[in-house]
Amino acid sequence: MTEHHNDDPPPSRSSLDADAVRLAYRRWAGVYDTVFGGVSGFGRRRAVEAVNRLPGTRVLEVGVGTGLALPHYNKEKLITGIDLSSDMLERARERTKRDKLANVNALLEMDAEETSFEDDSFDIAVAMFVASVVPHPRKLLRELKRVVKPGGYILFVNHFLAPAGLRGAVERGMARAARSLGWHPDFAMESLLPAEDLVRAHIQPVPPAGLFTLVSLDNI
Ligand SMILES: C[S@@+](CC[C@H](N)C(=O)[O-])C[C@H]1O[C@@H](n2cnc3c(N)ncnc32)[C@H](O)[C@@H]1O
Repeated sequence: MTEHHNDDPPPSRSSLDADAVRLAYRRWAGVYDTVFGGVSGFGRRRAVEAVNRLPGTRVLEVGVGTGLALPHYNKEKLITGIDLSSDMLERARERTKRDKLANVNALLEMDAEETSFEDDSFDIAVAMFVASVVPHPRKLLRELKRVVKPGGYILFVNHFLAPAGLRGAVERGMARAARSLGWHPDFAMESLLPAEDLVRAHIQPVPPAGLFTLVSLDNI
């Protein structure tokens, strides 16, 4: 059952439930790398570079997808990847085998909003292009705070809604297609971070043109 917190913003009208996510990414799995690999590559590389610079070895990659980031971690980072979509995970497993990625410890089918990990299991959690896909981003954040040790780090890279102007209008229009797209183009940062985290988060625009943003949070 979905846990409810009074301070959570209401789910987006175009919210994707777990079945919609599985269905969308069943369709995307075969073409994902070709369609999204290029445009999102910069953001993914920035996030992995940030992870590589941080202390600690136990890394949780949330919504690992086809595993595009996996070859870029330093070898001492030990990666556990989780995803809801078995079709996407299958591609990540093929990549891990093909590229002989010995530091990928596990690739597991699991809901990132409600994992089966013990408290403090990881030093770092990173979610790339995932926060705008899950139905309850604040629940995702709470879960990552639980499974990352105090003093660890939580990173997100995502496209966040442009506050105003033409891009914002286009994104709100696209939001109506969220179920088939598999993510929310109209995703605001406040949907993920409550005010107390928003003020302390380290927020960096990522090229090209600041389309994506890297958000890092110390887990306190
Ligand atoms: C846009 S893709 C990003 C994949 C990968 N992180 C990348 O950078 O290419 C979003 C991924 O999040 C996964 N996902 C969505 N909701 C999830 C959830 N609640 N738990 C785990 N994975 C989820 C989807 O199945 C999909 O593989």
